[in-house]
Amino acid sequence: DGNYLVTLIPGDGIGPEIAESVKKIFAAAKRAQPYLGGVEGIESVERESGKEGVAAHSRDEKAPISWEEVDVTPILKDGKTVIPDRAIESVKKNTVALKGPLATPIGKGHVSLNLTLRRTFSLFANVRPCVSIQGFKTPYDNVNTVLIRENTEGEYSGIEHEIVDGVVQSIKLITYEASERVARYAFHYASENGRNKVTAVHKANIMKMSDGMFLTACRAVAKDYPNIAYDEDLLDRVCLRIAQDPSPYADRVMVMPNLYGDILSDLSAGLIGGLGLTPSGNIGKDASIFEAVHGSAPDIEGKGLANPTALLLSSLMMLRHMGLNEFADKIEKAALTTIAEGKAITRDLGGKAGTKEYTDAILAKLAKL
Ligand code: IPM
Ligand code: MN
Repeated sequence: DGNYLVTLIPGDGIGPEIAESVKKIFAAAKRAQPYLGGVEGIESVERESGKEGVAAHSRDEKAPISWEEVDVTPILKDGKTVIPDRAIESVKKNTVALKGPLATPIGKGHVSLNLTLRRTFSLFANVRPCVSIQGFKTPYDNVNTVLIRENTEGEYSGIEHEIVDGVVQSIKLITYEASERVARYAFHYASENGRNKVTAVHKANIMKMSDGMFLTACRAVAKDYPNIAYDEDLLDRVCLRIAQDPSPYADRVMVMPNLYGDILSDLSAGLIGGLGLTPSGNIGKDASIFEAVHGSAPDIEGKGLANPTALLLSSLMMLRHMGLNEFADKIEKAALTTIAEGKAITRDLGGKAGTKEYTDAILAKLAKL
């Protein structure tokens, strides 16, 4: 336990609103740590006397997280849209970041800054768990999937050109190195998280060379993990089966090339209620960025309606990645029980809570834990 500085990228659209909610929840969880108060009465006296305000800003060794907030509004540099240096430097220095959504232009314009971040820091594995949220009913009970997506290449390589009028090529680039690296991370993740199987998801029946090589890399890594079972399945078949019954996928980690992971992770999110509920972690050797999978939702920007759950769950992945499990468990317990009690159901989930009601309900629960 110590004081970790973490980069916070609130992002576009609803980003700042959901980031605000996460910050409030972290601050409250900090206050609720036993060593900061102990007896409730004493804590509230301290709060009234203004000491708590001082503590929040001083370098309290026992407060696990401090935020370094940076803006990622794109800037034009030498004719290219880039991320401000300050944001890059901050992530480089802190090595851990929590990130809200960044709007991506469709069909034209600059390269998605989400991708730029993944590439800049070689965030080679994108971990996307989908776990059913108690208190929010969907046709599926007990979904518990983990998908690990190769995060730097494939169709996301950005190599496109028009050969002649009306004929374009988008190159799907697959390297053995990146395939092996993400496969290794998938097996490592499985062994660390009590999952006893890795399934490589592919279309090597069609893309015999690229997906074929991805599978070769997975098979090679599987040999190093004799205690973890390994199998392979076709992407289309997994889509069909998981929509019929996700429960057989609760024992394993699925690993796959970039675009397949993008699509299958949205499908999985649909099983538990949508992108408002799904976290992710972009893992690299020198830095990791945890982000909500959803977009910037410009239609509800600034209206106080956004659902912070995906960013909050991402922040919990971040805490666990940093080894701050106790702090994560506490926030998770407060958030999930509040949602289960129906007190923090936002409109995207058919409820009435706004961002403020959502946050306040979780703060009230934290105060009682
Ligand atoms: C995601 C998103 C991104 C992607 C977009 C915003 C570039 O859909 O994180 O899944 O396609 O990877
Ligand atoms: Mn996506």
